[in-house]
Formats: sequence, structure tokens, C-alpha cells
Amino acid sequence: MHSYDQLIQANKDWASGKVASDPSFFHRLSRLQTPEFLWIGCSDSRVPADQITGTQPGEIFVHRNVANLVVNTDVNLLSVLDYAVTHLKVKHVIVCGHYGCGGIKAAMSHEDFKLALNMWLRNVKDVYRFHREELDAIKNEDEKTDRLVELNVKEQLMNLAKTSVVQRAWNNEKRPDLHGWVYGLTNGLIKPVFDIKAGTKIDPLYEYDDL
Ligand code: CO
Repeated sequence: MHSYDQLIQANKDWASGKVASDPSFFHRLSRLQTPEFLWIGCSDSRVPADQITGTQPGEIFVHRNVANLVVNTDVNLLSVLDYAVTHLKVKHVIVCGHYGCGGIKAAMSHEDFKLALNMWLRNVKDVYRFHREELDAIKNEDEKTDRLVELNVKEQLMNLAKTSVVQRAWNNEKRPDLHGWVYGLTNGLIKPVFDIKAGTKIDPLYEYDDL
């Protein structure tokens, strides 16, 4: 038996368990999804959005990438954001980082990870530069990483607020609120670190007219 065969077997067990406790579960879900949340998290296998939040299929719309970044040229993320905010009308967008994030650590190093990863991690290096004074003052490397994890989450919320997708929904429907969280790999707990309520005034440089 291959390792991936176990996944198929576990899937069969899971599906039959669901039907046993709720016979119409799949039929109901197949007809519509009305998630209240968009989750933008790290791809790290130890941070599964639904399991750590106790949510069920249908409850969270999910996008994950290395170091949970919101990059304004990332068509993948922007499509997910647009669909979730404009069409699914989510009430909350959560950016969830995690302490000890390998992507953040990699960005703090001077290692050449070659083209694609260098491009991606450059976004995190820029966050470091914005907060250089505070971060340089932290001598313990793990503490420095964890603080950059928090500051990175904050910066990604700002990046969300700069998009016309979010500003249009704020203007017309007073949603979504933006939430910055950090998950602890060592204790399994989520720590809220930063929030931006719908409609918050941001730097006018990034504000759009006639939304
Ligand atoms: Co990570």
C-alpha cells in the first residue's frame, strides 16, 4: 500500500462517517456555499485552517501561500479575494501567520533560494525594512522571527485594505472586517494581533474614488 492510498482510504471512512451522522450533509453542501470567512494562511502543513478553528466544510473560504502574503500582482490571491468578497460576500477576512514560520525565517537569511522563492520572499524582506529599527533591536533570533511574523500579518492586512475590492465592499456594504492572527505551533492557540474594521480610513494615497 502506498502512502497516498491511505489518504483515499481515510477519505472513504470520513465520507461514510459524515453520512452516518448527517445523511443530507453532502447533498446540502453540493448545492451552495455561504462561508462567512475568507482565510489567508501559510501553506505550512501544520496550520490547517479548518481543523484549528473547529470549522466544517462550507464555513471557510481558503487561500494559502508561503508566509501568508497579500501581493498586489498575485492574480491567484486577488481572484480568491474578489470572489470571496464580491460574490460570496464574506463578513471577515483573516490573515493568519504562525510563529516559527519557515518562509519568514528564510526571508531573514541571506541564502539564495533561486528565482521564484527569492521573488516571493522579497516581499517579506520589505516588511523587515519597514520595521528595521524595532527588529534589529531584538537579539534573540527566534523572538526576532516571531515579531516579524506578527508585523508581516499586519502589513498583509494593510495590503488588503489597499485593494479596490475591499474598499468597494467597505464603501457599499460596510464589510468585511480584516483580522490579523498568529497561530502558535507549540501550543495550538491563535493570538489576535491586529484588526482593521470595515471603513477604516487608510493612507489617502491608496484610496479610490467612485467605488
Ligand atoms: Co509558514
